[in-house]
This record gives sequence, C-alpha cells and structure tokens, in this order.
Amino acid sequence: MGGHDLTASTAENYRAFAEEAAGRSPQYERLSLDVAREVAILDFLAGLPRAKRQPNLLYAAARYLLGVPADLESLRSLVASRGPELAHVMLSRRTQTNEPARCATLLPLLAMLPQPLALIEVGASAGLTLLPDRYSYDFAGHRVAGTDPLGPVIACEPRGGVPLPDRVPHVTWRAGLDLNPLDVTSDDDMHWLECLIWPGETGRLARLHAAIATARRGPPAVHRGDLLTDVPLLAQQAPSDATLVIFHSAVLAYVAPPQRQEFASAVRELGAVWISNEGPGVIPASAPSSVNAADAADAGDAGYSALASRYRTGCFALIRDGYGPVAFADGHGAWVHWLS
Ligand SMILES: C[S@@+](CC[C@H](N)C(=O)[O-])C[C@H]1O[C@@H](n2cnc3c(N)ncnc32)[C@H](O)[C@@H]1O
Repeated sequence: MGGHDLTASTAENYRAFAEEAAGRSPQYERLSLDVAREVAILDFLAGLPRAKRQPNLLYAAARYLLGVPADLESLRSLVASRGPELAHVMLSRRTQTNEPARCATLLPLLAMLPQPLALIEVGASAGLTLLPDRYSYDFAGHRVAGTDPLGPVIACEPRGGVPLPDRVPHVTWRAGLDLNPLDVTSDDDMHWLECLIWPGETGRLARLHAAIATARRGPPAVHRGDLLTDVPLLAQQAPSDATLVIFHSAVLAYVAPPQRQEFASAVRELGAVWISNEGPGVIPASAPSSVNAADAADAGDAGYSALASRYRTGCFALIRDGYGPVAFADGHGAWVHWLS
C-alpha cells in the first residue's frame, strides 16, 4: 500500500496514489491529484531523495506538523513557510504503517500449524502485527477471543470458505526485526503511526489506539536489523519446541526483487514456516495468474479472469512457503478471500 515507483515521475506517483486512495480517503485522493499539478509542491519534493518523495510520507509529515490531515491550501502554505522543517520530518521518518487488523488475515494459517508457535516478524514496525494471539476477532459473527480481554476486536469479512479457527494460536515466543523499530512506549513514535492513517478510514484510529494499549501491557521485542542479514541470528534464539514461523506483511515491496529471492532462500534454509502477506506479484508465486480454475469457480459468477483482475491491485496475497496464494486479502485486513 502506498506503493512508490522510483522509476516514475513524482506527478505520476501522486496520480497513482490518488487511484489507491479512491474509495478509502476522498481527501487524500483529491489532494494527490492536486499535488500532481502543483508546481511549488513538486519543486519541494524534487529537493528530496527519490525514495523520500512518497505521498504517504509527505501527508504523514504534514499531519505531524499541522496536527490535522493536510488539504491543498494547508500543504501549500506549509511548504512555503516551514519547508525545511517538513523536509526534516520526511528525511528522519519512514512510512511504517503498522496495521493490527492484518493479524486477521494471518490468523487462520497460524491456527492451522502445530502449536505452540515461535513468531518472527520481519519489518515489524512497532510490533503491533506480532500480537495475533492477544487480539480478538469477529469474522462476520464467528468470534475468536484473544488473550487480552481489553484488546481490540478486529472485524474481518470472510469470503470463499475461510477455515475459521475456534481459538487464537498459542504463541510462546515472539520477536520482530525492523530497519527502524518504533517503540510502543514512546508517545512520539505512536503519534507518527497515527499520522500515517488516512483521513476517512473510519475505525483504524480507534483500532490502533486499542492495539497500542495491548502492546504496552507487554511490549513485544522488536530488534533493529535487516531482514536480508539478521534473521538467522534471531531464529537461533527461538525455542526449539515450538513451530518457528517467519512472516511479513507490507514489507517486501520495499526490498528489491533479487534481494527478495535471497530472503526467500535464507528462510527456506532455516526450515521455518514462511508466511507472506504482500501485494500480488511482490513475490512471484503471488501473481493472480497462479490462481487455479477451482478458485475461479469459488468466486461464483466472477469467474477466473474476474477473480484475477479483482485482486490484481489494492490487496494482498497470502502465501505459505512460497507456493501459490492460499488467499487474497484486503491490505488492511478488512476481508480475506480463501482459495480452495
Ligand atoms: C509498511 S510497514 C509494515 C509493518 C507491519 N508489517 C504491518 O503489516 O503493519 C513496513 C516496515 O518494513 C520495514 N522494513 C523495510 N525494509 C526492511 C528491511 N530490509 N529489513 C527490515 N525491515 C524493513 C520498515 O522499516 C517498516 O517498518
């Protein structure tokens, strides 16, 4: 989500972001179309490294400084009057959106594995997606209670015969890895996570607050490190009497394709269960073309090509051990469509 093509022009990226925001955040959809035409803002962005010109980063940094989500007028005046300050926030912060509802997508797979589990999440941000057992779930009336009675209840619409679990997985050990771990006990870091939420996405802020409160009652360890080099050392610390699961969501798009393959090989060598929740095509097996005909039938009158195109963008593919997708899912966990 918030994808950023380093080969495209900045204006093209903002127009592409407008498409992504359509239906989710009318304010950011409109703002992105405006920014794509606004010379002063494009000039400001041109002064930053390419990877720092992302819409998500600009809007979160603006919100951080303004206290409210930007519109064209407030953004224009922020760039004109506080440009260096805005650039400083953009250079020192990253897009690290941490969406606890993605745990709903992971839950059925995690619950199927031999228990107990030892979890390693790479690209864990603040570790809010490392707590699938502490949250509760509501899959269209099928409720699953988490271990934190005060934790958020994550609503997720099940589609296509999701193997819904009766209980949360039993997690005996967990660790996160991130280039830049955010600290759940830091109000400033958590405020940054709030700023990354798009205006119009109802429910996300309340869910984030509830998940932060859960995490603060027992902060998960998120270590500073690179998923390309530091997973084996972390894996050595996992208890040997638990199923080791290495997982990630919304992370590998930030890693160049050849390095994704390196990561995949390293995970395979560790003999761990590997769960990937990423945009279709981020790892090769997740391209919609790998959906089989039975799954097309599953989609009812949608048919194969409609299913494939329906899930081509704006969603994630859930993949176990690098084989074809087991499910497609909303990028923010609102629904999961299980494949046969
Ligand atoms: C969009 S956030 C996703 C956070 C979390 N997985 C979730 O689903 O809510 C992506 C995270 O990946 C981290 N990241 C990107 N490249 C990484 C790498 N090579 N090694 C470790 N972490 C990385 C970023 O710092 C960021 O915190």
